[in-house]
Amino acid sequence: MKLKQALKNKLTKKQLSLVRASFDVVGTIAIIEIPDELIKKQKIIAKEVLKLNPHIKTVLKKSGIHYGEYRRQKMVFLAGVNTKITEHRESGVRILLDVEKCYFSSRLGTERLRIARQIVPKEEILVMFSGVAPYPLVFAKNTQAKAIYGVEKNPVAHDFGERNVLLNKFWEKIRLIKGDVRLVVPMIGKKFNRILMPMPKTADEFIPVALRVAKKNTIIHFYDFGREEEFRGIRKKIKKSCKQLKKKCRILRTVKCGNYSPGVYRVCIDFKMV
Ligand SMILES: C[S@@+](CC[C@H](N)C(=O)[O-])C[C@H]1O[C@@H](n2cnc3c(N)ncnc32)[C@H](O)[C@@H]1O
Repeated sequence: MKLKQALKNKLTKKQLSLVRASFDVVGTIAIIEIPDELIKKQKIIAKEVLKLNPHIKTVLKKSGIHYGEYRRQKMVFLAGVNTKITEHRESGVRILLDVEKCYFSSRLGTERLRIARQIVPKEEILVMFSGVAPYPLVFAKNTQAKAIYGVEKNPVAHDFGERNVLLNKFWEKIRLIKGDVRLVVPMIGKKFNRILMPMPKTADEFIPVALRVAKKNTIIHFYDFGREEEFRGIRKKIKKSCKQLKKKCRILRTVKCGNYSPGVYRVCIDFKMV
């Protein structure tokens, strides 16, 4: 509301109604959305965002959706300090990243803590698709896990992950490996107490890889996108994959952990191998 108020004398009523008042904040960067109709006014809007939020130093605009295997998103610089690199703080950890070259969502902080709260001392955890390592870092800081492994294919995200491990001094707890989970995970030579699969849309392709390193009682956190009425189908897909591999699992819970688009949720299915 404050943003719309500040823009009152700079935009027409129609333009004002199109302004998206909420935006993502990653470290000192605000990532805003500008509808096509407001492109000519985007710098004015960005400057107001800077003025109203003293902790924000840079304003970028989302350009298109997440694309490709690395789930990156193009960003256009609008105002402030011209950079795409920032340090985000969450749950006691520092996360350095390039918001354009790596996937990261500050909105998933609550979800990371939800999982952290389930972790019991001495767990060995595998985070598939670890990105710049937010899950491993939050777990290392907030739990008594024994070891956390992360596997990430995007070399830039992996490198930021390594820097973050050093920055937070977690080199004894976290081991990050660069590469494709299909190749890397079987080579780790370990079975895990907990496995995370934060790769909505395609995570089901990787269930066989996860099950190879799961054991009795391993808990798997499987992410997908879907409407509420599709959640049952997602659970069925998991059960079917387990059955095909002659394994049994028990669904523990289905948790909505964000919105993908109107009516479509990011959902996490927690299931346990039995
Ligand atoms: C949705 S992002 C999640 C990143 C991170 N866990 C987070 O929450 O910020 C998925 C990540 O998986 C990585 N990725 C995609 N395919 C992969 C594969 N076959 N093996 C390893 N990583 C992969 C992408 O580069 C991307 O960083």
